[in-house]
Amino acid sequence: MDTAARHELRVLAAANPALPLLLTIGRFARPIRRIPRLGWVVSDPVTARLILNDATHFTLLGEGGVGHLWAQVLGDWVYDVFDGPGHHALRTQTRELFTEDNAAALVRRVIGPRLAAAGSQLAGGGTVDVADLARVMVGRIVADLLGLRVASDDDAAYREVFSTGEELAALALGTTTSTVLEPATVARAKQIVARMTSNVAQVWRTAPADTLLGRCRELGVEMRHTEGLATLLMVAGTETAASAMARTVALLHDTGAQDRLRAEPQRLPDAVREGLRVSTPAPLIGRSVRADTDVAGRRLRAGDRVMILTWTANTAPGGFSLDRSYLRDNRQLWFGAGRHLCLGAPVARAEIGALLSTLLDTGRPYRIVARRYRRRVLIPSYEMLRVSLAS
Ligand code: HEM
Repeated sequence: MDTAARHELRVLAAANPALPLLLTIGRFARPIRRIPRLGWVVSDPVTARLILNDATHFTLLGEGGVGHLWAQVLGDWVYDVFDGPGHHALRTQTRELFTEDNAAALVRRVIGPRLAAAGSQLAGGGTVDVADLARVMVGRIVADLLGLRVASDDDAAYREVFSTGEELAALALGTTTSTVLEPATVARAKQIVARMTSNVAQVWRTAPADTLLGRCRELGVEMRHTEGLATLLMVAGTETAASAMARTVALLHDTGAQDRLRAEPQRLPDAVREGLRVSTPAPLIGRSVRADTDVAGRRLRAGDRVMILTWTANTAPGGFSLDRSYLRDNRQLWFGAGRHLCLGAPVARAEIGALLSTLLDTGRPYRIVARRYRRRVLIPSYEMLRVSLAS
């Protein structure tokens, strides 16, 4: 196994010691296989997409899906807008919420100056912890999107925003075998949501149309749904994005591809795509069966759980390579597929691209001087990834 793949497996193992085994033996779950206690397991990209696109037979609202988790925290209205016709209407309203252009502008405005400071620090011979920087950048983006007022405009305040998003997401930890939450967990989650969305209602009423909350209002997304969406953005868009940023920096280093990218900077979108594919920050996606159906010759019954091993499906074609062309079967399975395809994908791509550009713009190769994997987290990632420029 090469260095890059070894580090990636260690990233997974630190998050959850069972994860490398599940994701590796998951290769045999092609096209679909039943595993005791886990339910149906899928690692074939075409079968995965088939399930994610089939809203008639699969849902994320039943036991085993994230909608079921969120309904316990946010309220029963989740059942109206997280899936089915209500969700379809909300996704139609928010189709233009994030575009490549407005995501790039958001990232430039909100994290551009902080990235420039990191670039100068590197150029001056200093060391930057890219994992920490990624968390701070994501905290800044989330705070901006949610109209949060932070105590002070410094890294510590945005680390705090990130940790809050992480704490909320961590509530989903331990739900691999059941998505029924303990009452104390529900109470804690409600507290966090109330704190993080405290300004949303007020900002939603008055925000200019070029901000996220203003855009939601103009698009006709009612206030309560905007609050729910804000919560989702925080949960879905914090750890995932920070993970992809740090891991892509490590992959470019560990494979040596950074030299090629510096020589051919027009390949930046390939580097971002490959970083997302190989890291697949959300390594599995859960669904439950809404109505009996057949998949690849197997009979799935209403109420069964399905676990889609996206990491396994995405990494099967091989390691990080700038030369890998578009994979038709996988497409962008790292962002899911179908009706729940990641709403923030343009933001995630812009964030990763901006970080890589900062490193490239120094004009010199970087080396990793220290790294540590993040332990016991929902989304596998680096705790610390210290880089400096080669002399
Ligand atoms: C590398 C970063 C990211 C990855 C890998 C990722 C991955 C995903 C995946 C796999 C899903 C589908 C989940 C499912 O079908 O059950 C999803 C949904 C979602 N993501 Fe992302 N995400 C990322 C970043 C973001 C960002 C930055 C935001 C917001 C700014 C965001 C907002 C959302 C939302 C709102 C949904 C729910 C969509 C729906 O249910 O209709 N994500 N994401």
